[in-house]
Order: sequence, then C-alpha cells, then structure tokens
Amino acid sequence: MTFGELKPHLRLLLGPGPSPVHPRVLKAMSTNVVGHLDPDFLEVMDDCQQMLRELFGTKNRVTFPVSGTGSAGMEAAVCNVIEPGDKAIICVNGVFGTRMADVAGRYGAEVIQVEADWGMPIDPADLKKALDANPDAALVGIVHAETSTGVLQPMEEIGAMCKDHGALLLMDCVTSLGGVPVEVDKWGVEIAYSGTQKCLSCPPGVAPFTISERALGKMRERKNKVASWYFDVSMIENYWGSDRSYHHTGPITMNYAIREALRLIFEEGAEARFARHALASKALQAGVEALGLSMFARDGARTPTLNTVAITENIDDGGVRKQLLNDFNIEIGGGLGPVAGKAWRIGLMGHGARQENVVYLMSALEVIFKKMGYIDEVGEAVTAATRVYAEA
Ligand SMILES: Cc1ncc(COP(=O)(O)O)c(C=O)c1O
Repeated sequence: MTFGELKPHLRLLLGPGPSPVHPRVLKAMSTNVVGHLDPDFLEVMDDCQQMLRELFGTKNRVTFPVSGTGSAGMEAAVCNVIEPGDKAIICVNGVFGTRMADVAGRYGAEVIQVEADWGMPIDPADLKKALDANPDAALVGIVHAETSTGVLQPMEEIGAMCKDHGALLLMDCVTSLGGVPVEVDKWGVEIAYSGTQKCLSCPPGVAPFTISERALGKMRERKNKVASWYFDVSMIENYWGSDRSYHHTGPITMNYAIREALRLIFEEGAEARFARHALASKALQAGVEALGLSMFARDGARTPTLNTVAITENIDDGGVRKQLLNDFNIEIGGGLGPVAGKAWRIGLMGHGARQENVVYLMSALEVIFKKMGYIDEVGEAVTAATRVYAEA
C-alpha cells in the first residue's frame, strides 16, 4: 500500500477554531522529544504552569494543561467536584452550556438549567433565583465566551453570588483565554478550563486547567472515587506537582507547543493582545455593516474573539462559505444547533486577529457578494474595515 504525501491546503482559519497556528509554535513542535520525566521536560512543565497561572489570573497551585482538547478540560472540571446526587446549576445559552449540562448529568449531577436566549448573556437575576431555590447547589457552571453565539458573559457579579450561596463556580474559557481578560481569582472562579486551538493559536490537543484549594477540598471529601480515572486530579496533581510520579505519558510535543504559545502571549503583553483582538473585531463589524449585514450576538455582550454575523434570508449560507474556502482558502464557521443557517461564526483569535486577515476577508466577501448579486458595488466593506484600523 502506498499513500500520497500529506498536503492539506494552506487555509486562513477564521472559523470557530482551530485558529491559525503561529509559525513559532509549529517550529517548537518539531523539537526533539524527550521522556515525560526527563529533567528538561519537567522544566517545560514548570514554565507552562507558571505562565498559565498568570494568564488565568490565579495563584492556584494546581494549574496545568490537561491532556486532551477543550472537552477534556470540561470533563476534568466537572468530574472532580461532582458526586452522584450533587445539584449543579448549569447556565445554558448555547451549544457549550448544553454540553456542560450533559457532562454534569453523566457524572451523576442533578442538573438545574438557567437559560437565556441564544445570542443573549445569562441574566444574573435568573441565576440568583436558581441559587435561592436550590441553597444546597454544589456547583454553578457557566461559559465565558459561548462559541456558538458569540456572547461574552459578564462575570463580575456571578462569583460573589456563588460564594454567598456556598456553590463552587466553574467557568469555561475555551474561546476567551488569551483573547480577552480572564480573572479567575478576582471573579471568584474556583475551576476553569480552556483549549489551545482558539486564542492561544496552538493546534488542539491540551486544555489549560486550574482549580482552587477550596474546590480541591470538595474533591478530597468525596465519598466515591472520581468516576474518570484519566481526569482524576488527585492523581494527576502528583505528576504536575513536586512528586513527579507517573500518571500517563504526557503529550510532550503539545506541551512544547503551549509553552511557545504562552511565551508569545507574554512577549506581546496581555493588554496589547486584548487590544489587538478588540480592534480586529471592531474592524470586522464595520465591514459587516457596510455589507448590509448585522451582528447576531447582543450589542454590549459580544466577544471579539468569535464574531457572529446574522445571515439575511436572501443569502446562500453554504454557497458563500464554499466560495470563501474554494476561491480564497478562507474558512469561516456556519451556525450550530438552532443557529444553523442563521449566522456565520468568524473567529479572530490569537494569531488570526490581524489587520491583513480582516481586510482580506472583507475583500473576498465583497467579490462573492457582488457575483451573487447581494451588493451593487465593491469596496465599501474593505473601506469601512480599513478606516477602523487607520483611525486607531
Ligand atoms: C466554549 C467551548 N467549550 C468547549 C469546547 C470543546 O472543545 P474541543 O472541541 O476542543 O473539545 C469548545 C470547542 O469549540 C468551545 O468553543
């Protein structure tokens, strides 16, 4: 049997992830592999933990990249603190809140859902009602940046509310970490996880994770073992902590990758990076409006990292995305679940959140829109996006 050489297209990844991988991350991934207990690798682990604490805004000792994608982070976050019969209030305003509720249920939680319309943030008053009605709730789970709708959840009030009610707060920051501020300690978040393929501009493969001493306390008081062997933090923490005892063979290359991605973030400076994401999103929105379209997520609650564009009925959703891919090598995402066919999801994450990408996407959309008869003239969207950058 013979197979051809691997030759994927060189795409511009402006969908919901993976985002464009920084060339320095790719280079780090071709570094020679050492053993997972090699002193050189232990140093890599220490570096990753230190930089992740800083990025998460936490002093949590147990902070490390879980082996696996963002969903592995979600499972690890849930399974360690949930025991069968625990009440978990899960906030659901999109696909990933729905997934979190599913995961919590699978680990035996009695799940109470607090819902908001897709495209809207969770109303803290609704969460308060659920907490008042369930004073014994062990956990509140929430998604910071909902990738299916483009909503950024304001977090400030929520942590204090959970603390008052004695519930642990668990936050998904898969589409926010590295693109917008994440303040685990300041917001009173006790468990958080992310992914690498979004604002860290790494391939998918490990999931940044952090857990507070208070949440670890709940884990240590469990009556039963954590149902997942692989994600049992009481064992994994011995590998990432001072014992360095074998748990599973760490994905060496992915840890090289995340280390380089984190180094890039701190070289750029977190504030400069957040400003770059905000500006790219502002330019994109200006271009979208010049095309006669509008944003899907509610104004004032949009994440700059994942921009959802409402598709009007005259537009051929699949047709436009196919032309972007085939004629321009640009990937953007379609809607998920109830939003399928109603919105595009345009990721401007990490290395992708740059002027040249926004301007190129606008020019490609203008060519396609003109050909399909959606606009009469080309140039307005590129001009609108360019103006945002020129005036910044
Ligand atoms: C908000 C959010 N949570 C969780 C996940 C799951 O991550 P993964 O697909 O890497 O397993 C994603 C993936 O897109 C996500 O956007």
